[in-house]
Amino acid sequence: MSIRLATAGESHGPALVGILTGLPAGLELDRDAIDSDLARRQAGYGRSPRQQIEQDRIEVLAGLRHGRTLGTPLAFVVRNLDHRNWTWGMSAWPPDGEPQGKGTRPVTLPRPGHADLAGVLKYGLGDVRDALERASARHTAAHVAAGAVAKSLLARVEVAVRGEPVDVEALRQRIDAARAERDTAGGVIEVRADGVPPGLGTYAAREDRLDGRLAAALMGIQAVKGVEIGDGFALAGLFGSQAHDEILTDLSRASNRAGGIEAGISNGEEIVVRAAMKPLPTLMKPLRSVDLATGEPAQALVERSDVAAVEALAVVAEAAVAWELAVAAHDKFGGDSVDDFVGAWRAYLDRIGWQPR
Ligand SMILES: Cc1cc2nc3c(=O)[nH]c(=O)nc-3n(C[C@H](O)[C@H](O)[C@H](O)COP(=O)(O)O)c2cc1C
Repeated sequence: MSIRLATAGESHGPALVGILTGLPAGLELDRDAIDSDLARRQAGYGRSPRQQIEQDRIEVLAGLRHGRTLGTPLAFVVRNLDHRNWTWGMSAWPPDGEPQGKGTRPVTLPRPGHADLAGVLKYGLGDVRDALERASARHTAAHVAAGAVAKSLLARVEVAVRGEPVDVEALRQRIDAARAERDTAGGVIEVRADGVPPGLGTYAAREDRLDGRLAAALMGIQAVKGVEIGDGFALAGLFGSQAHDEILTDLSRASNRAGGIEAGISNGEEIVVRAAMKPLPTLMKPLRSVDLATGEPAQALVERSDVAAVEALAVVAEAAVAWELAVAAHDKFGGDSVDDFVGAWRAYLDRIGWQPR
């Protein structure tokens, strides 16, 4: 059975929800490690005051006993503490009493670059809030929690995954400049995975290529508009003799321009992927839009928002890469118990004679 994740939850609803199925039994989870990734996602230069309201923590509802997975669906929630200000506005059922708190009036001013216009048209909605609440990146918290679980599985076979922004100094300067202009900024992040042996992913089917799965997972994160594996776009300008990674007698490579993946399969080198994030669409100096209630020209919605979330993206992207590597590893090695999974991994490394570097 493949490892799968389903999530639910709106940005200002009561909670984010995740259900992981197919996880092997006997995997020890560390609550502090999961909460620490959730805290890393909330931090970072340029984040909004919302992050001071939220203190994300995982609450596990099923699938775990005394810190070990049971091999049954793992269900968890991360509560939205800000929901207390939105109990009327985000009530699941028709609310009782007078409107109070936030979200009481329909939003009719779609923001360029956000889900607002495409969302209301697609789903036939009268209130932009009905689109933006789920499109918001708030629910990346559920993905980060799932990524932390994936990292626990990968840690059992000594694979480590780490994401960080590229060129933090320049990024911070760009964020300062954006803030001074009441504008927003984007940036580039990089995720590296160490200890991945040759053989995860396949060329046999397009949807199972490891590079394709990683690109889809990263592209699936809000505001990511470009993904590179290894030297990516730069390779297009090189000659073949400059672009490929020569093979040495111990089967390692003289360079790693491929980012650790050839033909959709990990090749034993470090996995290196990058993602480009666009500047965030909610602007304090809004762009031109239209009031959907009147059809008249208007300025787009202004609401509390990050100036940049590139450092948060690094954490979300790390979780996405860890998730996809765990899925690809479990697809290859299987195992109803974590010991079965680790045993199959080790037997395979013995067969190919590969030493973790
Ligand atoms: C961690 C993270 C935080 C984000 N925070 C904001 C934000 O505060 N304001 C905003 O307008 N967009 C924010 N975004 C981006 C929007 O969610 C995204 O641009 C929007 O959903 C439209 O999707 P698209 O950019 O992929 O087309 C954030 C994205 C991420 C990954």
